[in-house]
Formats: sequence, C-alpha cells, structure tokens
Amino acid sequence: MTPCVPLSLVGLLLLSRCSSSSSSSSSTLEVLTQRNSDFSARLYGAVCSRTDDNVFLSTVTLAAGLLALVSAANGPTRDQLLQGLSLTGLDPQSLPDLFQSLGTPVTNMKQGVAVFPAQGFPVSASYLDLVQTRFGGTAQSLAYTVPQEATDAINRWAQDRTGDEVQDLVTTLDPNTQLLLATTASYKAHFSPPFNVSFTQDERFYVGRYHIVMVPMMFRAGKYFLAYDDSVKVGVLKLPMASGTAMLVLLPDEGVDITAVEEQLTGEKIQNWIGRLKRTKLEVQLPRFLLERSYSLRDALQTLDITLVFQEDADLSTMGGATGLRLTQVHHKSVVSVDESGDDIIAEGGASPTSTPPPRLTVNRPFIFIIYQTGGVVLSMGRVIDPSRK
Ligand SMILES: *[C@@H]1O[C@H](CO)[C@@H](O)[C@H](O)[C@H]1NC(C)=O
Repeated sequence: MTPCVPLSLVGLLLLSRCSSSSSSSSSTLEVLTQRNSDFSARLYGAVCSRTDDNVFLSTVTLAAGLLALVSAANGPTRDQLLQGLSLTGLDPQSLPDLFQSLGTPVTNMKQGVAVFPAQGFPVSASYLDLVQTRFGGTAQSLAYTVPQEATDAINRWAQDRTGDEVQDLVTTLDPNTQLLLATTASYKAHFSPPFNVSFTQDERFYVGRYHIVMVPMMFRAGKYFLAYDDSVKVGVLKLPMASGTAMLVLLPDEGVDITAVEEQLTGEKIQNWIGRLKRTKLEVQLPRFLLERSYSLRDALQTLDITLVFQEDADLSTMGGATGLRLTQVHHKSVVSVDESGDDIIAEGGASPTSTPPPRLTVNRPFIFIIYQTGGVVLSMGRVIDPSRK
C-alpha cells in the first residue's frame, strides 16, 4: 500500500497557489475552487433528493475517484465525465499531473480511491501507476464470479485505507459486475479550539415538529465567524478544525424546511458565504454526532448527466486496452465523528464576565455541514436530520 497521499483536489489547489503568485495561477486556484464547490453541491443535492435521512459524502474523494476514471476514458465518455465533474475547459491531459501529492496532508482525514475491473479486463501497468501516483489509489482486477471473495477484498481495502474506521463498504456484489469505483473516507472533526466536555449536557433536538430526541449538546462561548443569508433564511457558522480545515454549519431559520435550503444550495453560494463571514462573540451549542453513510451512486451520478460511462459503448480503453468495459457501480462509504476531542489542550478560562452575555446559536434542529480547507476547497458535505442516529 502506498502511504496516505494528500487530497488530490487540495494538492492541485495548493500547487497552483504555492508554485507562483502570478495572476494566472491565482485565477486557476479560484476557478478550481469554484468548480469543486459546484460539483460538491450538485452531488450533495442529487443524493439528498433521494432520502430523508442523515447524509454524509466525502465529495473530494469522489471527485478524485471520478478523475481516475477520466484518465481511463476517451472521447465522449471522457468529455461527459469532465462535464459532470464541472471540469470542462481544463486540459484533461494535465489534470492527473497536477494531482500529484503536493498538498499538505489533512491529518484528521483518511481516504481511498480504487478502480476494480472484473477479471478479463486486466489493468495496464501504466494505468495502475497513474492511479497510484496521482490519486494515491489502486487499480486491480477482481473475480466477481466469486462474489464473497470480491466483497472481502474491497472491504479489506477500505479498512486498510481508513485505519479500520470504515467497515463493510460493500455488502453484496453482482457476479456480472464489470467495473466498480470504490471511494471511502473517514473524518474526525478536531475542533480548534475544542468544545469543553464538562459543559456538554443532554438537550432536546427537534428532528421534526412532533419528533424530539435527547442528544449530548456541546457548548462553547467565544469568538466565531458568522454570516446570515436573508434570501435563503439560513445562518452560517464557521467552526475551525485542525490542519487548516473548518466546518461550516448551515442552520435554517426556525420554521424553514432544510430541503428549501438544499434546493437553493450552489457552489457559488458556499463560496459567497465563506467570503462574507464576520467575527463575532457567540455562545454555540452543537450536538455531538457520528455519521456512517454508505451509498451506491450510479443513479445520483446519472442525474448529474454522467451516463455514457455506464453504457455498453463506454470507452475506458486506456485502463488496459480490453474493449467492452463499462462502469457498473460507484460505491462510497464515509464516516465523520464530531465531538469534544481536539488537538489543543489549552485550558480556556470560562466565558469572560461581560455585562451582557453574547447571543447564543443553538443547533437543535436539522442542519447542513460542509468541511472545507482554508481557501474554500470543499472536502465533504452532509446533513444531520437526527444526531442520535448514524
Ligand atoms: C473545562 O471547563 C472546566 C470548568 O469550567 C475547567 O475547569 C477546565 O479547565 C476546562 N477545560 C478546558 C480544556 O478548557
């Protein structure tokens, strides 16, 4: 196994930021941040429209996986994948090179990307090398005719990539599978500064008007970055985390349905909100939660107009030369844990005594969260409908 390789999109963005400060590279950075945001928001929307449950997607890992397929594809199959990834207009030949491991590793995240064709569709050494070096991933033929063996191999790979955080990435496999794309990620929200566990207490969370659950609610008073979007009726709170990452919590106003916010959520809005955050004194209450979500994304990707790669005339010949190969399914499983643990052990004095206590933001109803890197690169997106459920 190759060592944990930094995030591909992040690497790409850091490359364009670090290599030069010329205006052309800073605009490349902006374009890519925006494109990545756009893909993340569209994929998140496609998944949310299919479920009422909690959602969690490591969109940056999925983008890396789909880009590994771009490198195997030709002609219209490739063009359509690039379009689905919001990467049209960028030179597909240069994308993998840019994806080399140049970013700083995100220590609170582990991820993996793998391309698994069926036996009979051997992977060329050059494609394997590309997936390993550019995407930190793997490409390997599996015997789907023995589904249990293939399942075990994929699940072992996911455990290996995530330090056992992700188990059972796949449960059942079709013996007629031709090609699977598997992506997995595990995040720990090491808030910096962390919440203080001695202030955590059980409180109500309003899943719905008549559905209330008691959950451990964390508390911290301090300076935060906050924005409010009057047109969407959503509050936007930034919670800084380790390794230059942060979580953006989108809390719809009371009485505003989370789906109404999701329908208006675009990559542009995310970037706009990040740019409009203002520092303010605040008391924050956020539920502890742990999400473990697993998806088969074929249908969701088809609504993003990624269709040809799943069809009989797909062209994935760069993977190994055998023709007739097409993508069967895209599996994604990711976990995120949000609690009081953090790297900073700096004891904070309690909230400094002030004559008027600061306003309190209580996240006690369904909310959306976005994990991103400084600069706005979206890593993952999710929503918490019920924090007492995985
Ligand atoms: C947490 O709060 C308690 C009670 O106010 C305090 O004694 C302790 O030092 C705090 N811990 C940290 C890490 O801030």
